[in-house]
Amino acid sequence: HIQLKDFPTDFLWGSASAAYQVEGAWNVDGKGKSVWDVYAKVPGATFQDTNGDVAVDHYHRYKEDVKLMAEQGLKAYRFSIAWSRVLPNGTGEINEAGLEFYDRLIDELLSYQITPVVTLYHWDIPQTLMERYGGWESREVIEDFNNYAVILFKRYGDRVKHWVTLNEQNVFVGQGYKTGTHPPAVRDEKRFYEVNHIANVANAKVIQSFRALSIEDALIGPSFAYTPVYPKSPNPKDILAAENAEELLSHFWMDVYAWGEYPRVAMNYLIKEGIAPTILPGDLELLKAATPDFMGLNYYQTATVEYNPLNGGVGEAKPNFTGKKGSSKDSGIPGLFKTTANPFTETTDWDWTIDPEGLHVVLRRIENRYQLPILITENGLGAFDKLESDDTINDEYRIDYLKRHVKAIQEAITDGVTVLGYCTWSYTDLLSWLNGYQKRYGMVFVDRDEHDEKTLRRIPKKSYYWYQGVIASNGKQI
Ligand code: BG6
Repeated sequence: HIQLKDFPTDFLWGSASAAYQVEGAWNVDGKGKSVWDVYAKVPGATFQDTNGDVAVDHYHRYKEDVKLMAEQGLKAYRFSIAWSRVLPNGTGEINEAGLEFYDRLIDELLSYQITPVVTLYHWDIPQTLMERYGGWESREVIEDFNNYAVILFKRYGDRVKHWVTLNEQNVFVGQGYKTGTHPPAVRDEKRFYEVNHIANVANAKVIQSFRALSIEDALIGPSFAYTPVYPKSPNPKDILAAENAEELLSHFWMDVYAWGEYPRVAMNYLIKEGIAPTILPGDLELLKAATPDFMGLNYYQTATVEYNPLNGGVGEAKPNFTGKKGSSKDSGIPGLFKTTANPFTETTDWDWTIDPEGLHVVLRRIENRYQLPILITENGLGAFDKLESDDTINDEYRIDYLKRHVKAIQEAITDGVTVLGYCTWSYTDLLSWLNGYQKRYGMVFVDRDEHDEKTLRRIPKKSYYWYQGVIASNGKQI
């Protein structure tokens, strides 16, 4: 039995959310529309046409939410800023009332010594920019995103020391331009790679601006949705398939973040297929110059792949480059890989694998390949929860899930991996982009459902108290 190392004393035991999924107040105090304010209202776009107009009303209830965090002992709270609250049209006039909301939230957190972790972008680009130039599809967004980020760095840099640039670029670009399930609902591989490159440049640009401001003791990095890939068997053909998938699904983002380089095999494949992005002079220099302080990691599950013959192989009937969300068991790229079920892992009610050891694996892979500290910015279980008649929620299954993942982190730390913190997804229940309010992730229950806002009451679940004990003991008692 290996003696496990203790969690570092300054380990950030946290929890996370995103603006559109919790705030509500979609048109309050001068906020402009984001693409999600529009897309979620297209009939059939989301589960039972749910939207975030009210969400869990965090905009008006943030004090109550922060108080519960403080009582739980939370050390960090990760939240995102809504671009269109700060700049209703994405650029131009600043909405002071929007900035003030985040001032109040940050100050409230700090008054309880809770470290704010701020995400610049969690998928809600202002609708005006989408209408004006197609949002992430135009290089104009690079300057606009940078201006927005600089406003935030200057305003909150004195108090915010942990910054996340783009949340899950692989997911929002993948779902927006490849699977067509997020705005702007495009299904076009060439455009997918073009947009992705622009997002890479925008990400690097804000990191460069952040460095230029030399904000004291502040760290910045992207959050990547890493779904690590396993080979189905020791058949060398399956091993190569796993290499292919890892290269195209993961290294294709993380290599760019960490090294400013696209992986060669993947790029070679894109060139061969005629879908490689347009790279302008200066882009690669910028990517190389603006690397992050940490790798943000959103970890939910693993994927397993096997050999996929070139002729007659499985194509991307349901293209899914993120390995997440409606992932089809039989998607793939002929000649490269195809996904398959893993008989060794259980799955959630939404068919995501439950694989705590996979977290140990990804932490090791990131450490080995990039030598960057890792901030786990999301991990959690989406499940149906039941509010009992005595006002309790006995989410033992969530405790079990989180417990096993915390242990996996401790094992990775014991191996020598640097992990800065762990944010559970999510703090309160919130709106799942495509799955409504029934897919609950929170440690705090919110009394509402798809179309009935009910009381919006907050009720700590059993997992809330479990995590309280974990934090109090700095991970000794899990
Ligand atoms: C991540 C996102 O992809 O996973 C979150 O950053 C999201 O915003 C979470 O809610 C869970 O996904 P889903 O589809 O179950 O809500």
